[in-house]
Amino acid sequence: MGSRYARIAGLGQYVPPHVVTNQDLARLVDTSDEWIQSRTGITERHFVEGDEATSSMAARAGCEALATAGARADEVDLVIVATSTPDYPLFPSTACLVQASLGLTRAGAYDISAACSGFVYGLITASQFIATGAYEHVLVIGADALSRFVNFEDRSTCVLFADGAGAAMLVASDTPGGLLSFVLGADGTGGEHLIVPAGGSRRPPTAETVGAREHSIHMNGREVYRFSTTVPADALRRAAADAGLAVEDLSLVVAHQANVRILQTVARNLNVPEDLFFRNVERFGNTSAASVPLALYDACAQRRLKPGALVGLMGFGAGLTWATAIWRWHDLPSNP
Ligand code: UT7
Repeated sequence: MGSRYARIAGLGQYVPPHVVTNQDLARLVDTSDEWIQSRTGITERHFVEGDEATSSMAARAGCEALATAGARADEVDLVIVATSTPDYPLFPSTACLVQASLGLTRAGAYDISAACSGFVYGLITASQFIATGAYEHVLVIGADALSRFVNFEDRSTCVLFADGAGAAMLVASDTPGGLLSFVLGADGTGGEHLIVPAGGSRRPPTAETVGAREHSIHMNGREVYRFSTTVPADALRRAAADAGLAVEDLSLVVAHQANVRILQTVARNLNVPEDLFFRNVERFGNTSAASVPLALYDACAQRRLKPGALVGLMGFGAGLTWATAIWRWHDLPSNP
């Protein structure tokens, strides 16, 4: 068999209908539209309601990616869901729920836990299955419902995080392209800077952990900011160099949409124009594993990804984790 390349043949996007503006949050905590916009660039975000959960968002995004790629459900070999907010804390995995919901009868299914880097970790993992010739169709989804784990009395976190899902249908191709190089990284010594302290095997749920709000996100914003503006930029530079490129050779960088200030600072640190970094954080907030595929979808919709384009992908977040990749775009999926 000749070389096999992973082609993104379809993208999918889903955010819940419930929109929460900065003004809405200002009615809950001591904050303002002006503070949120000037520190983060966010103006509104979407939150799940009622029965909605990570798997229901993931399935909707996955369904669109599958349809756009023109792939049948029973052709999918594997579904990988990157998430930190699975429907159930232990099992079944969110990928299994999506597998059932979409009727992916032949597919293996598992979750990846790498926080906001998860989708890029997933895309890189999926590409290996295709490059080895093992699989032809792999569905990769990034989905999170962080609003379920935010303390709405903590103004330093509740204005940042939000919900959504994005998906990419990878199909094996003989045409060179797809993943050219990547860097996966982690620094577990920084784990405490962005953490949900209870609910796992170290501190299982008790009345005390619930009362102390230990099931919600605790963040050292300044440390996370310092990390986010330095380490991932270096990893992007290294991934580009591994592909024989410089960052300025890229036609677009689709990075984790945490915050506009982070994206601006990363661009400055890399000595490239700000608009090399795609932005849609203003409408969606920080959707964790969903943010890179939500941004890829919008970049595609805005025709920012031309056939043959060299695209930088960059995830970074809790763990601490980061993942960067250089991707050669094959052609435009017919959506959105
Ligand atoms: O996927 C990665 C996820 N994490 C991130 O993206 C977070 C990275 N960190 C950041 O982006 C920034 O650190 C924040 C946006 C979280 C905070 O911005 P900052 O400029 O670093 O603010 P700060 O933490 O230095 O706080 C400045 C002030 C404080 O008041 P005092 O102590 O100076 O009186 C905060 O209490 O801003 C206050 N503050 C707020 N004020 C109004 C914090 N949150 C808010 C808020 N509204 N929502």
